[in-house]
Amino acid sequence: MADKKAQLIISGADPVDLPVMSGTLGPDVIDVRNLTSTGVFTFDPGFMSTASCESKITYIDGDKGILLHRGYPIEQLAEKSDYLETCYLLLKGELPNTQEKAEFVDTIKNHTMVHEQLKNFFNGFRRDAHPMAIMCGVVGALSAFYHDSLDITDPQHREISAMRLIAKMPTLAAMVHKYSMGQPMMYPRNNLGYSENFLHMMFNTPCEEKPISPVLARAMDRIFILHADHEQNASTSTVRLAGSSGANPFACIAAGIAALWGPAHGGANEAVLKMLDEIGDVANIDKFVAKAKDKNDPFKLMGFGHRVYKNFDPRATVMKKTCDEVLAELGINDPQLELAMRLEELARKDSYFVERNLYPNVDFYSGIILKAIGIPTSMFTVIFAMARTVGWISHWQEMLSGPYKIGRPRQLYTGVTQRDIPDDRG
Ligand code: SDX
Repeated sequence: MADKKAQLIISGADPVDLPVMSGTLGPDVIDVRNLTSTGVFTFDPGFMSTASCESKITYIDGDKGILLHRGYPIEQLAEKSDYLETCYLLLKGELPNTQEKAEFVDTIKNHTMVHEQLKNFFNGFRRDAHPMAIMCGVVGALSAFYHDSLDITDPQHREISAMRLIAKMPTLAAMVHKYSMGQPMMYPRNNLGYSENFLHMMFNTPCEEKPISPVLARAMDRIFILHADHEQNASTSTVRLAGSSGANPFACIAAGIAALWGPAHGGANEAVLKMLDEIGDVANIDKFVAKAKDKNDPFKLMGFGHRVYKNFDPRATVMKKTCDEVLAELGINDPQLELAMRLEELARKDSYFVERNLYPNVDFYSGIILKAIGIPTSMFTVIFAMARTVGWISHWQEMLSGPYKIGRPRQLYTGVTQRDIPDDRG
């Protein structure tokens, strides 16, 4: 096909031809890399219509509610694969065969422990510190223990760092939980599956090691799959930007954790449960929906809306189905689920939400399952960070595996023009 072009015409200047690039799926992009030669920049706060990179990992069609990881629909991965298979797919581009999976699982198992001295970092935190505050600290500190694998130009160093991060995040997350409970931290058990091992470290104690319910382990694994990656979201973009300076992978992931913590992003799952607690009863829903619509009120309906999805978030659909299955299998009748469903029903009938294409997102139902599994609300975003680590590290690897430049956006300066300090300044 003849090369597509866009033409930029700025009054008083000659037209500028800009190449238009096409991907395999999704909108074309206008390549503005050479725009600086014209003396103008593009202006796009919040990157509403800016593609920051080229990627082959995940594709989202926000209008159709489609999410593909290396071409596979999220619904199929949630149903037919497990989290470590999804990790392999995101990292390497294909689902593993039996041998590849066995080797990958074995590699991960060999890296689940953390350096014993890392425990000392926890003692500097108050017991009631927010778990995400501790995660930011201890994940960043990992780089202090792996001087043997911090050369980001070495593919083997990048590979071992990726394995270490995927393997150690559950161990660290469970340590954070145990620290906040004042209970002894549990060591990982290599005879357990990834999600089963996480729940073992979260809920067992040295005094008693109960078998982990396969229902809960499967639900946990599916939650990990649903949170694994989501193209260039705020935290993934943070990891790419930090990585573009040559920062080590542990520092980059710590930056991603910090960005994810915000309630507009990964912190929303914790905020949804707090919101449902605050609403308390179906009778109060109208009041909170009115607050969400009131421009003078900062309150937003947490777990609703999305930058890309202007249709159902396919993860929310799978999450709701999983929620029903887990609660039914556990015989739990959670009034907050009824409240959430009623809230969704009312919001989806309200013109404010319909006109703005505001649907439940991945965070709307996840908290109800996490609560059923026994995860405290303050740990919800830590679970999100654990699951997203493979997405972050896959994008980090993709960027570093090819030519890249340090990310350094420009600006529209509207401040004071140059002036001198008066000689008679008092
Ligand atoms: C995640 O990017 C990703 O892929 C993220 C994520 C991932 O997997 O990485 O999917 C995970 O972060 C999911 C989103 C979790 N956040 C929340 O649930 C918090 C509540 N949602 C909103 O804060 C908001 O919807 C965002 C942040 C998610 C999206 O914000 P945008 O794209 O900047 O949209 P916007 O704020 O410009 O909203 C458009 C309109 C505005 O009204 P108007 O100015 O047009 O009148 O919709 C309104 C907003 O006020 N609006 C909401 C709302 N979300 C948007 N109004 C009430 N409640 C809401 N939740």
